[in-house]
Amino acid sequence: MRMLIKGKTVLTGEVEISSSKNAILPILAASLLTDDKVEIRKVPNINDVVIITKLLDQLGTKTKHYRNTLMLSGESISTNPPYELVRQIRASVLIMGPLLARQGKVRVALPGGCAIGTRPIDLHLKGFHALGADITLHSGDLVAKANDLIGTHIYLDYPSVGATENIMMAASMAKGISYIENAALEPEVVDLANFINSMGGKVSGAGTNVIKIEGVKQLKGVKYTPIPDRIEAGTYMVAVAATGGDAIIKNVIPEHLKAITSKLIESGADVIEGEDNLQVRRESKIKPVYIKTLPYPGFPTDMQAQFMAYLSRSHGSSVVSESVFENRFMHVQELSRMGANIKTEGKTAIIRGVRKLTGAQVKASDLRAGAALVIAGLTAQGNTILQESQHVDRGYEKITSKLNAMGAQIEDE
Ligand code: EPZ
Repeated sequence: MRMLIKGKTVLTGEVEISSSKNAILPILAASLLTDDKVEIRKVPNINDVVIITKLLDQLGTKTKHYRNTLMLSGESISTNPPYELVRQIRASVLIMGPLLARQGKVRVALPGGCAIGTRPIDLHLKGFHALGADITLHSGDLVAKANDLIGTHIYLDYPSVGATENIMMAASMAKGISYIENAALEPEVVDLANFINSMGGKVSGAGTNVIKIEGVKQLKGVKYTPIPDRIEAGTYMVAVAATGGDAIIKNVIPEHLKAITSKLIESGADVIEGEDNLQVRRESKIKPVYIKTLPYPGFPTDMQAQFMAYLSRSHGSSVVSESVFENRFMHVQELSRMGANIKTEGKTAIIRGVRKLTGAQVKASDLRAGAALVIAGLTAQGNTILQESQHVDRGYEKITSKLNAMGAQIEDE
């Protein structure tokens, strides 16, 4: 897949943000916690959702898509999802918690590494073990078994989003009470807790660093609409600022975007917050800023690449330090092909602003690096060809038509 991006366009008008990919993926996994019918509304048509839905199908769940509502029901009989699906998406590891809770066993291929690092799941497994599961490795597959899951205290060495979510799902039907300490605070963790509580679960403290989960015997079917995607929203905010445009980003929760809003304002853009929307515009020059990615509510690692594309044309030198993943600078060499002047030292990048970027043939290594190159292509002189653009479709619903409606000139090939 390729995207042909015409350079030097200005984004104006408005864009509607879709539901959060990183809220929907754990919520789809949590639908395994009941055999009743679960209805998820406003599901975006993105490839990661397609893959996870296929995975649930293979486990025996009946899934039906009706417009942007996804219906799931029926008992997941299998506990051994096919390798070729599991290896396509790291989030498949999130089915471990629910299957352990419901079936007492699960076998999944160890998630392979990916473009942004090895991404181990040791904290997930530490939590399952603490709840009473036995975990062994059989020819590349992880096998977890537990006759009973017993509530306990689990301390996370790192506030891992996935580990917090996986352990919450396992503990939601354990015997007794569990506490996850040093839990992730991300809004997507809170949305999962709200989803489980709407099924009759008893999860409290989500959004703080201690989450209490009282195990229940049964969870029931529910109709649920996930929160808007704060990273999609942030990506459009940065794209509007990078092109010197002026646009309204609709269907957002401004609270979830504080770190991005404050950095954009620091860089010279204006951000005006509404109830469920934001106006972003930039008339003045881009000022250099210092960014350090941190767990929520710090600056999100998923916005680091997009911001680097924006800062590559700032008046001065910016510093970006990536503290969450060990290898999330794959976009640097691609941005350099467009004329950006970026030097990386380990997990720190120094971006010396240049007057202009020029269109080039570049390649997307992962979802957010791809989004960064789209932003760079919009602001560059001349045309950019983004190869491997299927990475972008994993997490950005209808990105080409959304951007073209704002004045971009992009063609998908
Ligand atoms: C979630 O990944 C998101 N994905 C990622 O978004 C996001 O970048 C990340 O959280 C951080 O915010 C989904 O929600 C589906 P982590 P996750 O566990 O859960 C280390 C995107 O672009 N770690 O918080 O995998 C890990 O290696 C994606 O939408 C362990 O060491 O992130 C990493 O360095 C990319 N052991 C750090 O913690 C573990 O057991 C953060 O990982 C788990 C994680």
